[in-house]
Amino acid sequence: PSDTGRVLSIQSHTVQGYVGNKSAVFPLQLLGFDVDPINSVQFSNHTGYPTFRGQVLDGKQLWDLIEGLEENQLLHYTHLLTGYIGSVSFLETVLQVVDKLRSVNPDLLYVCDPVLGDEGKLYVPQELISVYQQKVVPVASMLTPNQFEVELLTGLRITSEQDGLTACNTLHSAGPRKVVITSALIEGKLLLIGSHKKTEEQPPEQFKIEIPKIPAYFTGTGDLMTALLLGWSNKYPDNLEKAAELAVSSLQALLKRTVEDYKMAGFDPSTSSLEIRLIQSQDEIRNPSITCKAVKY
Ligand code: ATP
Ligand code: PLP
Ligand code: MG
Ligand code: NA
Ligand code: MG
Repeated sequence: PSDTGRVLSIQSHTVQGYVGNKSAVFPLQLLGFDVDPINSVQFSNHTGYPTFRGQVLDGKQLWDLIEGLEENQLLHYTHLLTGYIGSVSFLETVLQVVDKLRSVNPDLLYVCDPVLGDEGKLYVPQELISVYQQKVVPVASMLTPNQFEVELLTGLRITSEQDGLTACNTLHSAGPRKVVITSALIEGKLLLIGSHKKTEEQPPEQFKIEIPKIPAYFTGTGDLMTALLLGWSNKYPDNLEKAAELAVSSLQALLKRTVEDYKMAGFDPSTSSLEIRLIQSQDEIRNPSITCKAVKY
């Protein structure tokens, strides 16, 4: 038994650097969770480098691990967390995992980062979009798309804050009670937009957080963001606004440290993709001070 929960996290693993499980597991552990990672891929490094090598887990191999856990009655989870998924067959197996975990714990929360692409570029096969729309979104408890992913999932263009809110409503009516658009560039501002539909009858509580844009490109931040949102929204289940403030604030502190460390080592942080300074930021993860405030709509 654990005070906070036990998370099954199905994400990428990289030997070097922090994306996928490498950026999600440690922070969740710091926030007090037991985390059981399943590595959907094991790569030498993330795919933004000139080359990468490694292995990809297929749906059958994923199911084999689930059966191993089941045989030993080890399938009791409070949360399932998924990120980048590269094929329809793996995503279909993840859907079977959701059903299986809910047959053991009907209250299981499924936190889904529907990774499809970013800034107009798709990084998964096109066929995944409709599987997310028709099968995954309906069973997710919390969804953390970016602007492009919201557009792909809803078919709506997001060019204003109102568009973002409308898209959240569309996603709520398809399933998830909590929707966080983790980043959207709207009228020159970088925004997080959150929406919590607490009851069937009432309209969702909606808010935004303006994020100070750092002139650098990071990888692993989307995966870290979703992990932090899971962690803090479990501590504040009725206050998504507060959970998002804590997640954004600790992430900003980590990014600031990352940029400073690169500068100190003599690199220009605006010219290359930066590996986040995750381990060095453990105090900011465990005990963030709120620097980014939410504004209610
Ligand atoms: P997904 O993983 O679903 O693609 P995403 O596109 O939102 O999500 P990122 O672009 O990595 O993922 O952004 C996640 C969070 O990281 C943002 O909410 C923001 O807090 C932070 N972030 C990333 N890059 C920057 C930046 N250059 N300046 C400030 N914050 C940033
Ligand atoms: N997973 C893998 C294997 C990657 O190579 C990358 C980025 O290159 C990511 C995930 C992306 O992570 P994020 O969206 O959090 O930046
Ligand atoms: Mg992004
Ligand atoms: Na996201
Ligand atoms: Mg991402």
